[in-house]
Amino acid sequence: MKAIIPVAGVGTRLRPHTFSHPKVLLNVAGKPIIGHIMDKLIDAGIDEAIVIVGYLGDMVEDWLLKNYTIKFTFVSQTELLGLAHAIWMCKPYVIDNEPLFIILGDTIFDVDLQPVLQSPFSTLGVKEVDDPRRFGVAVTTDEGKILKLVEKPDTLVSNLAIVGLYFLQQSGSLFASIDHLISNNIKTKGEYQLTDALELMIEGGEPFTTFPVHGWYDCGKPETLLSTNEILLKDNISTKAYPGCIINDPVFIADNAILENSIIGPYTTIGEKAVINNVIIRNSIIGYNARVGHIMLDHSIVGNNAFITGSSQEINIGDYSEIRVG
Ligand code: G1P
Repeated sequence: MKAIIPVAGVGTRLRPHTFSHPKVLLNVAGKPIIGHIMDKLIDAGIDEAIVIVGYLGDMVEDWLLKNYTIKFTFVSQTELLGLAHAIWMCKPYVIDNEPLFIILGDTIFDVDLQPVLQSPFSTLGVKEVDDPRRFGVAVTTDEGKILKLVEKPDTLVSNLAIVGLYFLQQSGSLFASIDHLISNNIKTKGEYQLTDALELMIEGGEPFTTFPVHGWYDCGKPETLLSTNEILLKDNISTKAYPGCIINDPVFIADNAILENSIIGPYTTIGEKAVINNVIIRNSIIGYNARVGHIMLDHSIVGNNAFITGSSQEINIGDYSEIRVG
């Protein structure tokens, strides 16, 4: 089965990291966000992906082609007219009415996709959230049949958020719905919305169900990237010893990183070829080829090839001393 993966977004909330890298290539727990997604898809039997690229799309293409052998088609979205428009651009690459799986490329999830891909009905991943205003939401029956979908409702209609995993039995009716939105210029919040296209299908009588997604890990902002790093590292144990280092698991340390005289972890990712000495680092992500020395870092993200060093003092102080070095 084919997956469609839209990854064209700019990732403004993750600047400065997204000035030089597309969001989906940011490292979390030892691999890029999109690597976590691809691994799940391949495990579930997806053997072909249509990837909608935009901002720094060449980097995404290169990385995927270097790391995976499934068949890729890259579609370039130059105008950001909305998710439905992005999906609509894939129409030439989809065989008549074949089922499709759509997954938003910037969210890591923990759910067994195999039963989802075998569902007899179209089905959407959902999760209850406290504040549904920044999501599409589903109104369902007690059995999980969808009655209505609303994109980013201003008033509370449901707190069941659409997480960004969509299995569609009939791609033909999806594309017909999006055609309808585009030819009638029907936008919500200024964009052609996938939620609106799916709502048209439901209004047309197509049955849709939901499936629960408990593990839904946002990577949209520095603080959520770090909390996702923490969750995904949960069982990662370091097996290697480094001179003068104490490693507080869980951590991910790339094989070719160099560490000396440091305390690393917990919840820390150290990228490839990073060189680390005389530091205390916890709850942080250190990028590829970064140089970090003489510093204490907590809840920090150090970009690829960055250099950061603090100061180390040499002092000799007596009993009952109290010093706060800024
Ligand atoms: C998109 C979808 C929305 C969904 C959300 C999940 O919104 O339009 O229905 O709930 O992803 O993250 P976006 O986050 O692109 O504004």
